[in-house]
Amino acid sequence: MARFNNYLIVLALVLPSITAKMSDIVEEPLSECGKHIGAHCGDEVMGRLKSGNETVISTSCCYKLLQTGYPCHTKLTLFILENNAELNWTEFFAKSDKIYHKCDVLTAPGNPEFLANCTESLGSDCGEEVYNKLILDKTISKHCCEKLVKTGEQCHAAMAKALIRIPEMRNVNALQLLKKNKKIFEHCLHVK
Ligand SMILES: *[C@@H]1O[C@H](CO)[C@@H](O)[C@H](O)[C@H]1NC(C)=O
Ligand SMILES: *[C@@H]1O[C@H](CO)[C@@H](O)[C@H](O)[C@H]1NC(C)=O
Ligand SMILES: *[C@@H]1O[C@H](CO)[C@@H](O)[C@H](O)[C@H]1NC(C)=O
Repeated sequence: MARFNNYLIVLALVLPSITAKMSDIVEEPLSECGKHIGAHCGDEVMGRLKSGNETVISTSCCYKLLQTGYPCHTKLTLFILENNAELNWTEFFAKSDKIYHKCDVLTAPGNPEFLANCTESLGSDCGEEVYNKLILDKTISKHCCEKLVKTGEQCHAAMAKALIRIPEMRNVNALQLLKKNKKIFEHCLHVK
């Protein structure tokens, strides 16, 4: 996997290289999709779909669903339909889309322009340091801590949320990562 040269991955969401990776995922077999969503969250999504329970699924499973991605979500939905003859395809697909959309909203990193401003303000060198601290437990310099604090906690949180959605991050535990991300900010607040 190519080195992440920044934590400004957000911008990469619109870049062709990531789009290419997305298309690999489209080709992913159903069994892989099942592994990504996992038994626990798979059951939760399925339970909501079948019961018509309109409440949103848990935050942790929403992240898992977004990490699994829309192409996989569609594949899993199709699989259920093919194996449950009594279901109405139109209604089931609409419900399935609604669940995905609700999770998308719940876990959204925020306004793209705000994110672009955040990443620009942090800069790519410090972006990489924050990324390495978050994912690889490396150290973060005083200089980058100061820059991160200046960028602000709202930016820091939004960038992590955006990071969670990229394909390379799909197997990380989103809530744990966000917690760790918060700790990094707190650590930087106390670096003098
Ligand atoms: C929907 O699911 C949630 C969580 O499992 C549960 O608390 C709630 O009572 C359910 N609502 C209905 C209408 O079944
Ligand atoms: C499926 O649901 C749609 C929308 O509620 C309805 O218009 C359609 O007649 C249903 N189809 C079948 C085969 O029941
Ligand atoms: C982003 O930065 C530009 C230029 O500094 C500013 O005009 C704009 O309002 C900012 N947008 C957001 C959403 O923060």
